[in-house]
Amino acid sequence: MDASYDSLIDIAQDQSLSVRLLTWYTVEKRDLPWRKTSDPYAIWVSEVMLQQTQVKTVIPYYERFLQRFPNVEQLSKANLEDVLTIWSGLGYYSRARRMWEGARYICDFCGGKMPEDYDSLLRVPGIGKYTAGAIASIAFGQSVAAIDGNVLRVVSRLLAWSEPVETVRSFRHFSDHLAVWQSDDQPGDFNQALMELGAMICITTKPDCSNCPLAQLCVGCLQGEVLRYPVKKPKAQRQVLTRLTFVLRIGDQIYLQKRPSSGLLADLWEFPGVELSEDKVMEEGIPIFNLSQIFDYYKKAIAVRSFDGRVKDRFAQGLPLQGPVWYTFSHRRWRIIWTIIDLPSLPDSIKLTDPLDLPELPESIGTKSTGVSLLRELDGKYLFDPREVFQSVDNSCWVSLQDLSNFPLPVAFSAIVEDLTK
Ligand code: ADE
Repeated sequence: MDASYDSLIDIAQDQSLSVRLLTWYTVEKRDLPWRKTSDPYAIWVSEVMLQQTQVKTVIPYYERFLQRFPNVEQLSKANLEDVLTIWSGLGYYSRARRMWEGARYICDFCGGKMPEDYDSLLRVPGIGKYTAGAIASIAFGQSVAAIDGNVLRVVSRLLAWSEPVETVRSFRHFSDHLAVWQSDDQPGDFNQALMELGAMICITTKPDCSNCPLAQLCVGCLQGEVLRYPVKKPKAQRQVLTRLTFVLRIGDQIYLQKRPSSGLLADLWEFPGVELSEDKVMEEGIPIFNLSQIFDYYKKAIAVRSFDGRVKDRFAQGLPLQGPVWYTFSHRRWRIIWTIIDLPSLPDSIKLTDPLDLPELPESIGTKSTGVSLLRELDGKYLFDPREVFQSVDNSCWVSLQDLSNFPLPVAFSAIVEDLTK
């Protein structure tokens, strides 16, 4: 048994913890939009957005999202693209997609009404223990814990818990203690107060213990070792990849492709490109590729073959590569380099976004002729190639520079958008 265990038992039974915490919260809590509602859907939206994102970033997104999708039904009926567009800039896009799937589940299997208790909430795709605990306690007054990163930090310090906090054992240990401390009258406020304490006082690097309402109960603080906690497992190194990106431009129209429905940045639109492992490129500076290398990468990245001839010519003339800029995902870092490939303007009579007068395709192909990506360039002329309708219409498009903001384009590409705007 370690030395702190006696005091730990004391805290575990300390009913005053909840009173101290709630008294502090009543006075100090921030005026946040999701604290003015008991609508479980709005609370769901806020809790999903607040995972991995700071409060001040979330507020405008939260308000815009609720204006656009004011209830579960509206969200379930939306198309994913629109949801991702509203989410654009918040990052971790899988959260938006999972919430949209959850809304569809609630409409299909729960009569369109948010489930009202922890166990039923957990059955909704995309709602995990934390979100279920937050919604059940805040919207429905159920006495359950909601353990997020802030709460993990606070509780691990309170208990001076010397094991890695990410384990199932730690989670159980914290849940058991929280069940004792939890306020039966105000479980939602209790959970939010712990989150607030983690965000405002018990912060990662400089905890403000002298203003902490729980300092006298906090084993970590009493031992003078707050910064030892939370103990974390060593992190796996992030993989660093060079992202060679191709930006096709005709006049003010930019070519975008949709990413696959699973994996990194699923279903978002992007300037297409390839990921190169470090052994293929230099660590610093901009790599130099020969013509056949860069053209092979181009062909790998871009789904349509329409512009190959002209693009190859442009590469042969020597196109400058821009960058690098860095973008960090949870498990990967991109070193982004890009090249803008200007193609000759189209004749006035043809617009990339107009529906084209294409020959009828067999219905079995089941595609739309939206007029995008169907041009083939031959001997300096543009021709339409109906065969490409099938391959690419839903996954590629041309967008004017000012319409780029209406696309769910990952923040990773902001530097490229800026470069295009110059
Ligand atoms: N972080 C996660 N949930 C929160 C909430 N309800 N209030 C403030 N910060 C939070």
